[in-house]
Amino acid sequence: MIKKKMEVYTLIKPEIQKLITVGIETANLDCRILLSKSLNIDKVIYNHEYIDISENQIKKFQCLVEQRLSGKPVSRIVNKRNFWKKEFKLNEQTLDPRPDSEILIETVLLHYENKSKSLKILDLGSGSGCLGLSLLEEYVNSEVSFFDVSKKSLEIVKINALNFGSANRSKFINLDWRIDGWDLNLIKIENNIKFDIIISNPPYIPRDEIKKLQTEVKKYDPFIALNGGIDGLDSYRYIIPKLKNILKYNGKVFFEIGKGQEDFISSRAKKHKLFPIEYNKDLSGVNRVITFIVK
Ligand SMILES: C[S@@+](CC[C@H](N)C(=O)[O-])C[C@H]1O[C@@H](n2cnc3c(N)ncnc32)[C@H](O)[C@@H]1O
Repeated sequence: MIKKKMEVYTLIKPEIQKLITVGIETANLDCRILLSKSLNIDKVIYNHEYIDISENQIKKFQCLVEQRLSGKPVSRIVNKRNFWKKEFKLNEQTLDPRPDSEILIETVLLHYENKSKSLKILDLGSGSGCLGLSLLEEYVNSEVSFFDVSKKSLEIVKINALNFGSANRSKFINLDWRIDGWDLNLIKIENNIKFDIIISNPPYIPRDEIKKLQTEVKKYDPFIALNGGIDGLDSYRYIIPKLKNILKYNGKVFFEIGKGQEDFISSRAKKHKLFPIEYNKDLSGVNRVITFIVK
C-alpha cells in the first residue's frame, strides 16, 4: 500500500467546508475524529501535523464525511462517546450518552462521600452502562446491576465493563419493567439482597415529540430509549410503585427527568413511600435530577 505524506489541514479543509455549509458547527473536530477512524488510530489528530496516508484511507475518510453530511452523528459513525472519565463503546441499541446525565453522577457523589464504601447499586435502563460504570469507577468497592430490556445494549455494557476492568463488579440483567413482577424477579436474581442506591435515566420524551427532534436524535437514538408514552411519564408509572420492594430502608433513588416532570414524579413517589430530598438543575437551569429517600 503506497502512502504519501500530507498535512492534515490540507486534506480535511475541503471536507470541513462541506460540513460548515450544512450548518455543522463542530466541522473541524468532526473531520479530525473521522480521519483518525479511517487511519484506524485512537489518538487525536492535529490540524498542522503531517500524516502518512494511502488513497484507500483518503477514500474511506471521504465516505465517513458523507455519512456525517447525511446527519449521522460522529458518535454513531465511530460507535463511541466520552462520558464522565471514560470512552464508552456504543451500538445501535444504546442511547448516545448525554453530558447532562453527568449531573446524576455528581449528585450521587455528593450524597455518598465515602468512596471506599461497599454499595449495592442498580442502574435501571442502563443503555451503554455510562451511569453505572462511571459510579463503579468512583466507588471501587461497590457493585452495579445493569438492568435493561435490550439484550444488545447489555452486550455493550459487558464490553465496556471488561474494557474498564469492572466486569467482576457488574451483573447484567435482562428484564422489562412493563411486565408485572419484575421487582420480584430482580430480587430473586439478587438473592433477596436489596439495593442501597437506584439510578435511572428512563425514556421520558412524550411520544409525539420524538418526530420533532433533530435528525441526529430521532433517526439514530433507539426509539425504546426515548419513548415515554403519551405524556413522557410512563416509565416512572411502571417503576416508582416497585422501588420500595427493592431498596433498603434509607436507600436513595436518583432519577433523571425531562423538563417540567418533577411535580408529577414527586407526587407519585410520595404515594409509594419515596420522599423527594433534592432537585438538581442542568446548565440551562432545568430540574434534571430528583433524589428520593425511601422510608
Ligand atoms: C434514556 S435511555 C438511558 C440509557 C443510559 N442509562 C444513559 O443514561 O445513557 C433508557 C434505557 O431504558 C431502556 N428501557 C426502555 N424501556 C425499558 C423497559 N420497559 N424495561 C427495561 N429497560 C427499558 C432502554 O433500552 C434504554 O437503554
